[in-house]
This record gives sequence, C-alpha cells and structure tokens, in this order.
Amino acid sequence: MSTDNASRARLTIDPAFVVGPVRRRTFGSFVEHLGRCVYTGIHDPGHPTADEHGFRGDVIELVKELGVSTVRYPGGNFVSGYRWEDAIGPVEQRPARLDLAWHSLEPNTVGIDEFMIWAEKAGVEPMMAVNLGTRGVQEALDILEYANIARGTALSDLRRANGAEQPYGISMWCLGNEMDGPWQTGHKTAAEYGRLAAETARAMRQMQPDLELVACGSSSASMPTFGSWEYTVLTEAYEQVDLVSAHVYYYEDEGDLGSFLASAVNMDYFIDSVAATADAVRAAGKHTKRINISFDEWNVWYQQRAESRPPSGEDWPVAPVLLEDRYTVADAVVVGDLLISLLRHTDRVHSASQAQLVNVIAPIMTEPGGRAWKQTIFHPFALTSRHAKGDVLQVVLDSPTYQTAKYGEVPLLDAVATYDAEGGELVVFAVNRSQNAALPLEIDLRDGGYRLVEAVTYSSEDHMWHATADDDTSVLPVANETAALDGSVVSASLPAISWSMIRLAKA
Ligand code: AHR
Repeated sequence: MSTDNASRARLTIDPAFVVGPVRRRTFGSFVEHLGRCVYTGIHDPGHPTADEHGFRGDVIELVKELGVSTVRYPGGNFVSGYRWEDAIGPVEQRPARLDLAWHSLEPNTVGIDEFMIWAEKAGVEPMMAVNLGTRGVQEALDILEYANIARGTALSDLRRANGAEQPYGISMWCLGNEMDGPWQTGHKTAAEYGRLAAETARAMRQMQPDLELVACGSSSASMPTFGSWEYTVLTEAYEQVDLVSAHVYYYEDEGDLGSFLASAVNMDYFIDSVAATADAVRAAGKHTKRINISFDEWNVWYQQRAESRPPSGEDWPVAPVLLEDRYTVADAVVVGDLLISLLRHTDRVHSASQAQLVNVIAPIMTEPGGRAWKQTIFHPFALTSRHAKGDVLQVVLDSPTYQTAKYGEVPLLDAVATYDAEGGELVVFAVNRSQNAALPLEIDLRDGGYRLVEAVTYSSEDHMWHATADDDTSVLPVANETAALDGSVVSASLPAISWSMIRLAKA
C-alpha cells in the first residue's frame, strides 16, 4: 500500500558529473520466431504495404519512429532448437520444423537472409544468437562463416548463391539464450555452459577476432542460481567474451501497483549485482578488461494471462497468438522508468533490447493483412531514444518516499538526465510513482544560461487505459504546461503515475 505524501522532490544536475556516453545500443529491440512477431508482424506478404520480400512497410515506418538501434534475432527460447540452415535457399524447398519452445510449427519462410534485408530496410543493427541448446561449436562457426566471410568458402559462396553478394558483417553474437533456465531446450549447468561458451567464443574468434560476444547471464535476478551462475560462467569464459546478458520480465501489476511502479528499483539491483559479480571474477582471475552487460531482454510481461500459454497436444500452429499483452498507461510509466534505470547504468550496460518488437509483448501491434498501431509503451521508448544524446549525467535526487511490499521504502521520483555538449541540450527524464498525488519537482541546474525547449508528460486519469487498433491516440504525450524556468531552477508538477521529459538548451 502506498503511504506517500506529495511534498516536493528536488534534482540537482551538473553537466560535469558524467556517468558515461548515451549508447545508441541502449535502444535495441528483439525479433523472435514466436507467435506473430515475424509472421504477420514484420512479414506479411499479402499486406498492402508489403515489399517484394513480404515485409510490411507500415511496420518498418513504426520501427523507425520508435528509434530502435539493434535488433536481436532469431530468439529467445526459439534459438535453442533452431537449425539456421533450414531457412536459407529457395523458400519452397525449406522444411517445416516443430518449434519445441513455443509448441508451434516453424515454416522457415523467413531466415537469416530475409532478416538481414529487413534489418537494412529498418535501419537497425543485427544482433545474432547462435544455438547452444541442441547444437554447439561447429554450427556457430557455420553460421558465422555464412554471414561474415566474404567469399571463397563453401558457406560464404552459398550465401552469395542465395543472393547476398556482400558479407553481412554482423558484429554482436549471443552465445545461446537463457541457458540457466530449466525451460530451455538443452538447458545446462553453469559449469557446462561456461565451458561451451568459452570454446564457442574461442573458435568464433579464430574465424573473426573482432566480434563482440555475449555470454548468457541469468534469466532474472530471482533465479535460484542468480549470482553464482554469472560467477561460474565468467570464470570459464572471462577472456573470451565481452558482455554478459541479463533478462527480466519480473514486472507486472499483480494487484500491488505501488511495487509495480517501483520496478526500476529491481532493475537497478539486478545491474549492480551483475556488475559486482563480473568485477569479482575480474579480481579473482587477475584480468584487466571489464565485462559489461547486455540487458538483451526486458519488459513488462503479464505471464499469467492466457495469451502467454503456448498451444499443447496435437496442436502445432504457425504463428499463433502468443504473449500479445495490451499495455496500460501505468505499464508505459514503468517502461519509461526501466529506460531511466538502463541509462543511469550506461557505464556498465553497453547494450539492451526491449522484448519484443511486434505483437509479442511489444510496442507495435498488427492485424494480419490489416492495421498496425502503437501501444502505450511505444511513447516513452520513442521519446527517450530520440532525445537522450551526448552523456548520461549523475543526478542528485532528493525525493519523498513511499512503502512498497516488494522493495521497502522507495523514492516517489525517479529521474536521469542527459547532456549533449555539442548541441548544448540538457534533457531530464522523470517518473512520478505516486498513485494519487501530483509531485512538485524542482530542478537545480546550477547555471542560469538555459532556456526551456519543451516539457511533455505521459499520463491519464485512467491509468488502466490501453490502445487498440481503433484508438491508439486518446492518450498521447502532451505538453506539461506547469513547467517553468526561473533563473537556474526548473519547476514542474508531475501528475500521479506519470512519465515526463523536460528539454532545455543553452540560451
Ligand atoms: O521474450 C519471450 C521469451 O522470454 C524468450 O523467448 C526467452 O528468452 C524469455 O524467457
């Protein structure tokens, strides 16, 4: 239960206090062969906006507007049973396979070559995952050769014969997916996976030394092996990998809105714990480089809803409706706050992917052959991606607090700031977690040389409002008319359950 009182919150900001650069890769996303993410999501050959490859133009436009940087592919749990070579060459000759992860039928109409065409059209960097569930070193080498070797080998020439003359130059590779999870096809112990990840990475670097390789970390901070998993895996693979992954979907409103609104507290804890564990391995192994974090699956996900349950029995459908959560305004506020947490940790989080991009726990929804629309969570993501530039600043935050069942006493305000020295633009992203009262905010800029460019807020009297194909515009980010600048102090009132962005520029 919330026991907040709405006294004033204060932020002090100084462009001298830099955490690290704003990384474009913080604004990554994820396309998995799951439900309707690929088929009828990004790929829908019968759609009026589809291109010659079957990719929906309306979805590509929304992906661009969302400001997505990297896209992880092809899974997720799906990748742990995937045979990538099923999905190359003439489409009519590709085999259909059972996808054990989602109890679905995979037609293999879209594979690596199609995905790379889509990625280029959407203007995103691919982040490829290899199967270390049912497969191993050789298959990882095979897909790397197919993707990145220019010519003159069996698999690079096969890619060229399949129509891609130039190598793809894919830099980021995930060494499997969620190998700590008992649900994962080919699940392993930390020691088993650590050895396999190290050997796979070593072999991949023999082919191409400058890859950026991501070892699997934990599927959530509540996994029983959390911490010891990272320690064991990194002890095996420290010198061979660059990043360790983190995944979290622990965030949903289960009737305790106060805790839900404070979800970023858990993300902060998760990131700090993984960084500390990686640094402990660094010290114990006398390593010099640092391992950073790829937060490559994160989102609000209502896992108990019926749409999250895969089909069963004899039913192996192609692209069933799965994980199609409808997001509320409160969910969007939490997503905005999770982005604040990721940015605040830009010194250690070097890459992140919201899961997922289209239809499956996604900011973008589609009707097969029909309309595409924006969910509530689209807005804080798009605005943060567009306006967070330059460096992330360390803000000093002084806020009234409230009690939560999950995280104890937490601040009502959460915030981060970015400063772009080149353009002289300072941007503050802020969340009011109060369920019932506006929060007066004062921002001390310690410098009178700014002008207020804009202040926008996303909130609604009805925090349960969600978008539909018929109405995705009734609740949009709107100008916050309470924002004012007086000398070096900005004041604004942040409505209950709201996400806001305040932009200032050097006068
Ligand atoms: O994003 C949905 C699923 O969540 C992914 O396939 C898996 O990696 C995670 O458990």
